[in-house]
Amino acid sequence: MEKKRVCVTGAGGFVASWIVKLLLSKGYIVHGTVRDPGEEKYAHLNKLERASYNLKLFKADLLDYGSLVSAIAGCTGVIHVACPVPTSTLSNPEVEMLEPAVTGTLNVLRACSEAKVKRVVYISSTAAVVKNPKWPEDRVKDETCWSDREYCRATENWYLLAKTEAESIAFEYGKQNGLDVVAVNPGWMQSILNFSTLLLLKFVKGVYIQIEPGDVDGVPNKLWVVVDVRDAADAVLLAFEKPESEGRYICVAYNIMIKDLAEKLKSLYPDQTCLENFGEDDREYCVTSEKLQKLGWTYRQLEETLVDSIKSYKKAGLLD
Ligand SMILES: NC(=O)c1ccc[n+]([C@@H]2O[C@H](COP(=O)([O-])OP(=O)(O)OC[C@H]3O[C@@H](n4cnc5c(N)ncnc54)[C@H](OP(=O)(O)O)[C@@H]3O)[C@@H](O)[C@H]2O)c1
Repeated sequence: MEKKRVCVTGAGGFVASWIVKLLLSKGYIVHGTVRDPGEEKYAHLNKLERASYNLKLFKADLLDYGSLVSAIAGCTGVIHVACPVPTSTLSNPEVEMLEPAVTGTLNVLRACSEAKVKRVVYISSTAAVVKNPKWPEDRVKDETCWSDREYCRATENWYLLAKTEAESIAFEYGKQNGLDVVAVNPGWMQSILNFSTLLLLKFVKGVYIQIEPGDVDGVPNKLWVVVDVRDAADAVLLAFEKPESEGRYICVAYNIMIKDLAEKLKSLYPDQTCLENFGEDDREYCVTSEKLQKLGWTYRQLEETLVDSIKSYKKAGLLD
């Protein structure tokens, strides 16, 4: 019997690469979409175990519907990961962020309907959960909390707006078209370098990266929502495979104040510089992953994630 065939969009990205690795290790045949198949930045994919016979790369862009149809044909499942994750200010947020995130997601979903895909897992983010000024300050945020789109637009939080809009449109599309859509909403994923790991890298170099627009004095003692990318990949597989999974799943292992994170890092690496002189506490991001844990999700100790992250930065020469 042929193994299950699953398409992963944006397969060469940080998060998707870990998902592809996990799927291959479980015996899945993976269709991975990339924008430039010949590029060196995708070389790691072909080195994954079983990739030579179970991974097929397709050239596809989120805004090119036909390319998505070709990549998804024959798949029973789709893990939609591809989305711009901006590391700097956007000059044209509609074109650079909202179009690929929202129109791109709709294109993926339409291609899924055409291929009669059984389940789509949309990789959303806590970005689509946390930015809601109407949510009571003392209440932990769960899956019923959605970022407020008007507020995100007014405050020019384009990434948050795009993830919220795309996730809500994905559920709406699923309902209207009888497509089974599940979302996983990870926090900031750590283990090797991408934008969120860059936050940690700068952190251990004593530099604070401000994520949100607006002026901030000093280093606010923010709450970070952290998950190891390997645990997030496990969550995606769980959401994909468990027949009972439905709706959205916040995927965060630790809600930690960055001051406490700095202390933890100092205790693990006493000689390492680290961010210090924190200002006021800001617990806005506090979320719970209880629903995902009820589905069977477990996660690593924070120390393991931090040690492996620092090890990978050192190996890559980023802490020299
Ligand atoms: N990293 C985190 O901490 C975090 C946390 C929560 C949620 N997420 C979500 O996880 C997903 C992946 O994030 P990441 O950190 O892995 O970012 P990443 O490494 O930058 O990967 C983004 C991927 O999206 C692809 N992409 C962007 N625009 C595209 C387009 N128009 N057509 C086709 N592909 C396109 C990129 O393809 P190319 O290789 O061709 O550039 C790349 O593979 C995103 O949906 C993000 O919102 C990430």
